Amino acid sequence: MKILLASSEVHPFSKTGGLADMVGALGKALAAAGHEVAIVTPLYRGIRERFTNIQPTEYRVDVPLGATRVQAGVMELKLGPRLTVLFVDQREFFHRLALYGENNSEYLDNPQRFIFFSKAVVHLARYHPWGLPDIVHVHDWPVGLVPVLLQHEQHSTGWQAPRSVMTIHNLAYQGRFAGATFALTGLPRNHFTPAGVEYFGDVNCLKAAINYADFLTTVSPRYAREICTEAYGCGLDDVLRARQSRLAGILNGVDYDEWNTHRNIHLRHAYSFRKMAGKAENKRDLQRELGLPARADVPLFATVTRLADQKGMDLLLAALEEMLATDIQFVLLGSGDPALQGGYQRLGQRHPGKVVARIGYDHALSHRIEAGCDFFVMPSRFEPCGLNQMYSLRYGAIPIVRRTGGLDDSVVDLTDDPEHADGIKFTELRTRALAMAIRKAIVLYQTPQLLATMRHNGMTADFSWSRTTEAYTKVFQRALS
Ligand code: ADP
Ligand code: GLC
Repeated sequence: MKILLASSEVHPFSKTGGLADMVGALGKALAAAGHEVAIVTPLYRGIRERFTNIQPTEYRVDVPLGATRVQAGVMELKLGPRLTVLFVDQREFFHRLALYGENNSEYLDNPQRFIFFSKAVVHLARYHPWGLPDIVHVHDWPVGLVPVLLQHEQHSTGWQAPRSVMTIHNLAYQGRFAGATFALTGLPRNHFTPAGVEYFGDVNCLKAAINYADFLTTVSPRYAREICTEAYGCGLDDVLRARQSRLAGILNGVDYDEWNTHRNIHLRHAYSFRKMAGKAENKRDLQRELGLPARADVPLFATVTRLADQKGMDLLLAALEEMLATDIQFVLLGSGDPALQGGYQRLGQRHPGKVVARIGYDHALSHRIEAGCDFFVMPSRFEPCGLNQMYSLRYGAIPIVRRTGGLDDSVVDLTDDPEHADGIKFTELRTRALAMAIRKAIVLYQTPQLLATMRHNGMTADFSWSRTTEAYTKVFQRALS
């Protein structure tokens, strides 16, 4: 099949979260499975400088946006025999310091930026010399209007448009903008209804995708069920229930070329489930790097995360207040909500030698933390998939997760299955429940035999993309049928 993927972020070019990892890895995996793949993404500031083999092309995008027209260049990078990345080069919109906003507030012209980008995707699908795709596979709200734009292009010009698939990585971000924004789309008014793009008088890009895509997926089976309920539906559960027969949950894979412990430029000491000595050395190095006492006997807890409400980091802050009376160490790498940033920084100041809060984004450090820590904490309120718990498993760090979404689908608790257990799960969204889970971890740390078994189970669990690719191929076939 010929598949055009579209995403506002793609690893290794741009990233704010797991969306980038997933799209980058999916593109690679689909191409490896024999499909012809192109990924469309914005050319943000700095990408060209870091990837000097990106080539300019003659191709130009020229699309109406409200009362004006917007032009853009297209740059190209061939990543493999069947894998091309097409970068939409629109300086005014994308040559900025960040992807979506700065200082914790969104860019005001995000509607213009991403409606333009969605139109550019349709333009490329129709006219780019790469050729007409069978499937346009879009990811999250920034490209949510693509399915309706494709349909409109077909109805208004007679063009046989490709089928569309939308993967929902996070229902909490919907791309909801004032109703007046609708004029930018150039769509006829009959799409601005509750059965289309409209949501309580506003434009809702994700809702549009739910209504118009030929098939919908989410990034784990449990999240696919959760979002059809009021508790997790973020106000779109009824819209999703109406399309439930065309909705599937597929757990993300892990790109083990990047996330492994035996051949990894970010790690000083290689290790594997057969030779674990390197893990202890990585732990000691990490403790030294962060200014913690380099002790093997103390359990090191860690987390690497966006500091957003979704991640339940307020809960962890409260649980740590209680647990820090015991002999543990804790490391946070993250950024986001200023109140949480401050909370963790103050915790670090009050517990020097026990708590380190690194505010910021640091890819290499995230690998060293996974390799150095004993337990990785993810107390999410909801988690569509979550990647760090799967990275942790491979890195021999025991994940402590809340029983929700992809966390529940990828981690096995002792009470679920003692033989295959590789993590610790808790259910209730309460400080007490998380503190109890941390307490269990401390006991586990003092039970070396069981700890070793659980680590072994985690390190040998397989979330490689090959399985996942097959599931997506089936979805594409259903979208075509
Ligand atoms: P989400 O996409 O909701 O943020 P995921 O678990 O799917 O959650 O993916 C998060 C990804 O972003 C992981 O690869 C994680 O390592 C990375 N990440 C998050 N915050 C940071 C940070 N401060 N520094 C480095 N990497 C980070
Ligand atoms: C989103 C979700 C996260 C998921 C990622 C990749 O950012 O919050 O749970 O792992 O997308 O699909």
